[in-house]
Amino acid sequence: MRVLFAASEAVPLVKTGGLADVVGALPKALAKRGVDVTVMLPKYGEISKDVTDRAVYLGYTFVQMGWRRQYCGVLEIIEDGIRYLLLDNEYYFNRGYLYGYGDEAERFTFFSFAVLDSLQVLSEMPDIIHCHDWQTGLIPMLLRTRYANRPGYRDIRTVFTVHNLKYQGVFPRELLQDLLSAGDDLFTEDKLEFYGAASCMKAGLRYADKLTTVSPTYAREIQTETYGEKLDGLLRERAADLYGIVNGIDTDEFDPMKDPHVPVPYRDSRAKKRQNKIALQQELGLQADGSVPVIGIVSRLVDQKGLDLVIEALPELMEENIQIVILGAGEPALEATLQEAVQRYPGRLAVWFGFNEGLARRIYAGSDIYLMPSKFEPCGLSQLIALRYRTVPIVRETGGLCDTVESFNEYTGTGNGFSFGPASAHDLLFTVRRALFFYRDENAWAKILANGAKRNYGWDNSAREYERLYRELAG
Ligand code: ADP
Ligand code: GLC
Repeated sequence: MRVLFAASEAVPLVKTGGLADVVGALPKALAKRGVDVTVMLPKYGEISKDVTDRAVYLGYTFVQMGWRRQYCGVLEIIEDGIRYLLLDNEYYFNRGYLYGYGDEAERFTFFSFAVLDSLQVLSEMPDIIHCHDWQTGLIPMLLRTRYANRPGYRDIRTVFTVHNLKYQGVFPRELLQDLLSAGDDLFTEDKLEFYGAASCMKAGLRYADKLTTVSPTYAREIQTETYGEKLDGLLRERAADLYGIVNGIDTDEFDPMKDPHVPVPYRDSRAKKRQNKIALQQELGLQADGSVPVIGIVSRLVDQKGLDLVIEALPELMEENIQIVILGAGEPALEATLQEAVQRYPGRLAVWFGFNEGLARRIYAGSDIYLMPSKFEPCGLSQLIALRYRTVPIVRETGGLCDTVESFNEYTGTGNGFSFGPASAHDLLFTVRRALFFYRDENAWAKILANGAKRNYGWDNSAREYERLYRELAG
């Protein structure tokens, strides 16, 4: 069984968020089960030169997009036993950062064509192409239309995974029409048309053989108007082909015992975890005091993550004897508000803006509590990493957070964290206070930590579900 992943980021090559973690880890878990997985990515300028210097050049093809004919080189590199194919076009991918350019439609239409055209350079066709998020949404559509009668392409089946329905790749219809050299027939309401524009996400949802998303709860939520981002109708229509498969984390990669970024290796020792807390406090200029509970946040600073609730609750939160550490990158307005708040709580609130893998790991290791008040959350990996680092998550009950965090019940002794329903600052505050109450109760906290440690947050079960899906499709 040959599966080709097409995605816009993957650990260990390039990462901006959880998508990269998934596309990095799932192939490894599938490979362990005997599935032959290759991952195709754009060859971004951000991929380290150490890696690209080792890559082997396999050949090239030309991609025809409207009137443009663009070079696409194919390079191969094996990392951690997984084969990566990097699709090379300097103009589209050798830029300062991964996303957010004026020509995203053209860059990812190019990538979608390039994934299919570069198969000509390889000796074997895949059985399945597994596409991830809108950047690869055109691939299932191209396979069923433009490539449908080309030898070798007809038998390929597709899986399209929604990691985040909010980002859809919606562009002016004329632009996509030009890039795809397509007539009007593709741009009807039952196909790519989306409120007068054209949507790459919709292309994936309409044309892929099977759809998945990254948790069972999110799979249900996106079929409702509240979470459906105006695609709930189509998702309901395709409900029989839509599966919610919860993400895991790479437990070798995220292991406080082996993590090179963590000053004092530990697994269950609270004393050693406390040493990491003190090291974190010193690193970030907080008062070094192992007895003060530290609340950590590592997050993209976007509306999804609910940081406005934290900001709203902050004055009352800071009346408690706590410290808060926030690492994030994203919306400048959120950064400015947080930066301003730091001045008010010197030695008790620390923020660090930018992407910083090492600091992220030290926050997971050095915090007592991990706060994730997301408005919506397809799955969320941060709470899983926190659990792996014996940091108790407080989450809002949405998406994958529902499927991975169970609120502590002091009567039954069950639960690995704390959760609240309404997206309100008041509920957040109440739940943090509730967690702090149990933090002060040695036995209760030990129980919560033990409950968190019991579960395996790795990929084994979910990889089995993906494999079953591939086999069903491949017949
Ligand atoms: P999302 O993909 O929506 O951002 P996830 O919880 O699924 O959310 O995954 C986020 C991943 O990105 C985690 O591995 C988290 O540790 C990491 N991350 C987020 N922001 C940063 C940052 N500023 N620096 C380092 N790592 C980050
Ligand atoms: C998206 C989602 C996040 C999920 C990740 C990986 O970025 O926001 O919830 O964990 O993709 O699937």
